[in-house]
Amino acid sequence: MEKDRYLKLEAIAAKLPAITELFKLEPKRMEQFVLREGPLRADFSKQAISEQAREQLLHLAADCQLEHWRGRFFAGEKINTTEDRAVLHPALRGVGGDQDVQKQVKDMRAKLRTFAENVRKEGKFKSIVHIGIGGSDLGPRLIADGLAASTDNTFELRFAENVDGASINDALTGLDPKTTLVIVVSKSFTTQETRMNAESARDWLEAKLGKKAGANFIAVTANREGAEKFGVAIDQIFDFWDWVGGRYSVWSAVGLSLQIAFGPDAFDDFLAGAAAMDTHFRDAPLDKNLPVMMALTGVWNRNVLGYSSVAVIPYARRLRKLSAFLQQLEMESNGKSKTRDGENTGLTCPIIWGDEGTNGQHAFFQWLHQGTPGAPVDFVAVLKDHENRSGHHKALLANCFAQSEALMIGKSQMIVEEEMMAAGFKKQDREVLAPQKTFPGNRPSTTITLDELSPFALGHLIALYEHKVFVQGIIWGVNSFDQWGVELGKVLAKSILKELDGAKGEHDPSTEALIGLMK
Ligand code: F6P
Repeated sequence: MEKDRYLKLEAIAAKLPAITELFKLEPKRMEQFVLREGPLRADFSKQAISEQAREQLLHLAADCQLEHWRGRFFAGEKINTTEDRAVLHPALRGVGGDQDVQKQVKDMRAKLRTFAENVRKEGKFKSIVHIGIGGSDLGPRLIADGLAASTDNTFELRFAENVDGASINDALTGLDPKTTLVIVVSKSFTTQETRMNAESARDWLEAKLGKKAGANFIAVTANREGAEKFGVAIDQIFDFWDWVGGRYSVWSAVGLSLQIAFGPDAFDDFLAGAAAMDTHFRDAPLDKNLPVMMALTGVWNRNVLGYSSVAVIPYARRLRKLSAFLQQLEMESNGKSKTRDGENTGLTCPIIWGDEGTNGQHAFFQWLHQGTPGAPVDFVAVLKDHENRSGHHKALLANCFAQSEALMIGKSQMIVEEEMMAAGFKKQDREVLAPQKTFPGNRPSTTITLDELSPFALGHLIALYEHKVFVQGIIWGVNSFDQWGVELGKVLAKSILKELDGAKGEHDPSTEALIGLMK
């Protein structure tokens, strides 16, 4: 069955013309493969997908009952079956969920707004140290950079995530405990890294402030009891709910540090941008639906063309953490090999990787252009210049547009030889060099442009990727909302930690030897 589901697509792929040919053969290509929603435009026309392939992919989505699952998702049904939970991050933006959920969200949003406004007005705090890891870190970190494009932040906002002492040291160095607000974010409040960093930050506060340190210490968690036991004062705890997955949680109280630093209005705009993408995803027909088209393109590249990775290259420094954020969002959600029913899947989530443009051009783009087999690329660019440095922005975007064109058109050996001949190269030099200077081309990419890097556009972009992940999870038949694969290593680390302190344990010879190095 798993194999059969891609047979028709494989037959189409076997006869697929080059992308440049598709532009000639399909006069409506720009209409059909470019979608716009609000400030976001996604151009899929440089993907190696024909109209016929697109049609067949839409059939695949229908066969997988995508619309049925989408309905269940927005209705708040417990689609995270292995954890028996609903998945309602759109409700945090005001879309979906029942009246109870909507009320909880509304009340929490009001509470967060009041708290953030008070901190901003009072002026007691100058710095915020946000402690958390994974979904309790990557979203706030990415969005803090993104919001800085259009919104002032008068706070020193720092992050500590790693259990490596360097992380909390870097975050605290040079700050005054008196004017620092520490916000500990952990859905479970059991995460080793976060608890250790929180303890160190609390020690640091208490060393200077003594008992008064509690006023500078906030927790955001779905485990209120755990935070209380840790010693956080009851009225210093902000809740979120088990129906918010960690990697989908930046929209909740997890974004408190952003609300304080950039103001609740900017944060509301960010939520509104995501809500607009939610309603688009919920209501638009599948063939005009941005997350659906993005997801199907990814399925085509992964399951039919056989690519094992996707490079995400934001040509926007303020989105430079996008690929790190998407690594968790996509790989923790869909990096699975069992279906919801416990059967083996076929190929699922590719490796997500990348770096900001233009930096990547001087590092791994050689591989993208001439390596085997290369990887599809998501280029992400912002049209508005937020930086006011004469010429820089145009140069940045010229590079972005040039790279997707170069990947697609390539350069044949014949053209290289002609150019070398015209430049006066001898025959033997031409023979040696021409193959090296040849570009295979026909390498697929999507270009996403935002009109500006506003909070609204930022929310739109992140929600687009969230829903893409949802759709791919449905096609691949996996539960995108659990993460059992992170557990085994965590458990072993706990017992090895005890052994480093003298306890006895049994391991394979290699691990024994490594533990021995620390004794
Ligand atoms: O180990 C993975 C994970 O559970 C992620 O899913 C989560 O975002 C991260 O750890 C942090 O978890 P918490 O917010 O519970 O500290």
